[in-house]
Amino acid sequence: MYLKGEDISFGYEKKNRILNHVNLSLGSGELLGLIGDSGSGKSTLGGILSGYINNYQGSVSMDGKKIPSKGYNPVQLVFQHPEKAVNPRWKMKDILNEGHAVSQDILDSFGIKKSWLNRWPNELSGGELQRFALARALSPKTKFLIADEITTMVDAITQAQIWDIVLDIVEELNIGVLVVSHEKKLIDKLCHDVVFLDDINNV
Ligand SMILES: Nc1ncnc2c1ncn2[C@@H]1O[C@H](COP(=O)(O)OP(=O)(O)O)[C@@H](O)[C@H]1O
Ligand SMILES: [Mg+2]
Repeated sequence: MYLKGEDISFGYEKKNRILNHVNLSLGSGELLGLIGDSGSGKSTLGGILSGYINNYQGSVSMDGKKIPSKGYNPVQLVFQHPEKAVNPRWKMKDILNEGHAVSQDILDSFGIKKSWLNRWPNELSGGELQRFALARALSPKTKFLIADEITTMVDAITQAQIWDIVLDIVEELNIGVLVVSHEKKLIDKLCHDVVFLDDINNV
């Protein structure tokens, strides 16, 4: 199965195109790195591929079909700031099971402790919160993961731990991952292939 962005063009303002005729293809089980300078449009492209930005030109498809905007999104986006992806007034257990019941297996894999489930988001560290975000995103219904700087806010040891877990799960579920990062070292370690946004973006 392939996730494809074809001939994608987009600007937040009319006169200022950030993406211009971009093509990108990601296969099931593939780990593809996306590198680019800060502000070059990586997160914008991730937002388009995962359906959070709609008013772009071009097409995003999964095996040639448009991705349905209702129901479970098979293209899950996890980004750098997990605190912005959760409702601060919900307990972690409610956040976790908002879309679907997250399996005990996944919780165990991420080392999510029972006692954390009764906490508010601000009672967890950034790394702990990111484990929740990933546990929620990696359901059996997920086909692709857009991992947008998901470990930028944690130390090197935690970064390695989190990626070890993610790699195990995506391999088991045959999920394709777009690893968005400005850290070439991390991408070289994780990915089969890498693209530089500047090389595929004709701005
Ligand atoms: N919601 C927004 N409204 C207007 N401009 C934005 C918005 N989000 C991002 N931008 C601008 O779009 C450009 C690309 O941003 P982004 O995709 O976040 O880049 P990257 O992820 O590569 O750092 C930047 O110049 C940024 O300031
Ligand atoms: Mg970004």
